Amino acid sequence: MSEKMQIPLQERIIVALDVANPELAKEMVRSCESHVSYFKVGLQLFMASYFEVVDWIIARGHKVMLDLKFFDIPETVKLAVEQVNSRGVSLATIHGNDAIIRAAMEARGDLQLLAVTVLTSFGEEDLRAMGMTQSIEDLVLFRARRALELGCDGVVSSGLEAERLRNDLGDKLLIVTPGIRPGANVRDGSDDQKRIMTAGRAIAGGASHVVVGRPITKADNPIEVIKLMQADIQSCLS
Ligand code: C5P
Repeated sequence: MSEKMQIPLQERIIVALDVANPELAKEMVRSCESHVSYFKVGLQLFMASYFEVVDWIIARGHKVMLDLKFFDIPETVKLAVEQVNSRGVSLATIHGNDAIIRAAMEARGDLQLLAVTVLTSFGEEDLRAMGMTQSIEDLVLFRARRALELGCDGVVSSGLEAERLRNDLGDKLLIVTPGIRPGANVRDGSDDQKRIMTAGRAIAGGASHVVVGRPITKADNPIEVIKLMQADIQSCLS
């Protein structure tokens, strides 16, 4: 990445609030917000609280990534994006073909849209099992290029592809990278994530943001994990 994006350190880590209810989510936000100002609401929490936690986080002055990975016929995706576009959410995730992405773009208003490329829990063998013959890296790049051409603000990919995406697609797109594991740049098999990387290395490679769930939410002391990751990010950026 030739020129690092100007993103405040407290927005580089997006904490994934993968918890069962609004109370736990609010507790997690309160315990992280001295150092982090970006939170992700995904399927589990949204199913439990609809927009309650989303609105609450935004009212506290933080940013929200709504990660519902909309995938349906174009009209349905468009109507779903319309439900989100005026609520103050910063980022939402979609995936699908050109028609689906175009429909989402029509409805997005101020909302920034990220196209999911290939889930970070997928390895090459998972693509083969789904009948796909391309390598993960080629598929990620192909999907990211299409998403960018269709006007998406960025993509979700693993850290393994971030550098190539940044080099090939330029400085403007957001590259949001889940599969972050402290101290690990190769899979240790301890959970479902397969394409993993440390926060610092992902950002140094070209990711604009990292999404971190369990390493923070399951930690005895989440803020310590956040501080270590932020120090790692800073040292990798300098
Ligand atoms: O707990 P962990 O750090 O693995 O959480 C990663 C988060 O990022 C989860 O909320 C997951 O849904 C999300 N995510 C992902 N891979 C993608 C897109 C989103 O892991 N490609």
